Amino acid sequence: MATWDVVIVGGGLAGLRAALALRGLRVAVLSRVHPLRSHSVAAQGGINAALKNMPQAADDSVERHTYDTIKGSDFLADQIAAATLCEQAPRTIYEMEHWGTPFSRLDNGRIAQRPFGGTDVPRTCYAADRTGHHLLQTLYAQVRKHNITVFEEFVVLRLVQADGRVHGVVGIDLAAGSIVEFAARSVLFATGGYGRVFRNSTNALINTGSGIAIAYRAGVPIKDLEFVQFHPTTLFGTNILITEGARGEGGHLKNAAGDRFMSEYAPKLMELAPRDIVARAITTEISEARGFQGGYVQLDLRHLGHDRIHERLPGIWEIARDFARIDACETALPVLPGQHYSMGGIDVDVEGHSAISGFFACGECACVSVHGANRLGGNSLLETLVFGRLTGEAMSRFLAGCGQGVDHAAIASAKAQIIDQIDHLARGTLNAAGIRDRMRDVLSDNVGVFRDQESLISARDHLRQLAYDALRVKTDSSTLRFNGGLITALELPMMIDLAMIICEGALGRTESRGSHFRTDHISRNDKTWLKHTIATVGADGPQLQYRDVDLSKYEPEERIY
Ligand code: FUM
Repeated sequence: MATWDVVIVGGGLAGLRAALALRGLRVAVLSRVHPLRSHSVAAQGGINAALKNMPQAADDSVERHTYDTIKGSDFLADQIAAATLCEQAPRTIYEMEHWGTPFSRLDNGRIAQRPFGGTDVPRTCYAADRTGHHLLQTLYAQVRKHNITVFEEFVVLRLVQADGRVHGVVGIDLAAGSIVEFAARSVLFATGGYGRVFRNSTNALINTGSGIAIAYRAGVPIKDLEFVQFHPTTLFGTNILITEGARGEGGHLKNAAGDRFMSEYAPKLMELAPRDIVARAITTEISEARGFQGGYVQLDLRHLGHDRIHERLPGIWEIARDFARIDACETALPVLPGQHYSMGGIDVDVEGHSAISGFFACGECACVSVHGANRLGGNSLLETLVFGRLTGEAMSRFLAGCGQGVDHAAIASAKAQIIDQIDHLARGTLNAAGIRDRMRDVLSDNVGVFRDQESLISARDHLRQLAYDALRVKTDSSTLRFNGGLITALELPMMIDLAMIICEGALGRTESRGSHFRTDHISRNDKTWLKHTIATVGADGPQLQYRDVDLSKYEPEERIY
């Protein structure tokens, strides 16, 4: 079996950017789908950098971007890490520009920037409302140019570690229909988020969170998973993302009485308050019967006019037409919050190092932590590129100083475990998709925008039962070739792991901070809870510990917008 220097799991922006930083080494990128179908492609509104290109942003700075990010995080972000993200932003944009990303432009030729949430300066660079699409095309072209090896349609199921070191991964080659082993001196997970653990999500179906769960099961600590971002504006009925850029361009949120209700919740920034605040405002309007029949509010773009909508928001106009039969120039869009992003993830530092030697993570599956309790829109694309590069560079240094070989027996044992698991599924009796859907309902109904002890305990009890049931699921066919039912059954226990970590973390954190709002503990409690939640595998579910937040730049203050 060949030994790779680096196996990167995930072909989205973070994985591809890391691969480019590692060129020259024996690098394999394993992607569950064709890289251009990775979920990064769905990012719409933009990517933040203090470029100061707009007249209203003349006094923007890296320092201000850092402060906005930390305040947006409700002071749970590690502050030096957040500063690193913002310092690296301008060079990251220029790098992508030079590689060919077609950013939207001003008349003077500079990159245009739009307002986004959590700040009063326009700082978000964009390519109409298809920013992720264009960034991903750009990086993939670079990956092809540098002949980096990409294996498409591979689902990874095990991270192989022994003696505190990583030795490779094992998974399924969906097209060949075989179990494959990749021996590697180092492994990077850039596997994206876990949105599909929830019922209503903007995420692609591939976002099962398996990378986070595989790392957890291999003994890697998981950080801050209770902080789940609910995007304020997803299309009613489908939860397709309706970009924050729509509000950045001037869109208004209205309740059934026609009121711009954000004046009650964030009088200064209104629709451009941070996402946690806007999502809570919309949920409150709906639950207090000020929404529309069925449970939504309206995002009104009509006053922007046909030309601006078609120039800046062409994708939104098409989504409204195709999925709601609405002309956004004529009719306001029905929207409501939906799960969108995971602030938490695999516990890593700014160079992607985890607790296992040779195992790294970056992008949404990782928690550095730069977003703390609430991420600002436009900082996610930035995170993928900044930490993709920094992690790739760190892996290169790691490999230069690491002469050890890999443990092939450990890899063979991981493969045998997968074969056993598949055999076991042939003897099961329960329906995996049914249990998965119940898990989604439990999480969405009890661990959503608002939570309390009662709902969380109820969720925990249900999830424990579902975890037990998940061991008894069956597959109708054990063919390995493009067998979605088998993958669902294999991933189900891992999805439930994540649901339980989210739930336990939310139960343990008896305060409200950022996206985590406890109706039975409505205040932020800095005395007790300026801490990260660290989850590891315990005898009876996740075991939690806590770690202090890095507060070395700014004192926590009240968050008023
Ligand atoms: O609303 C959006 O376009 C999403 C941006 C983001 O999640 O950063």
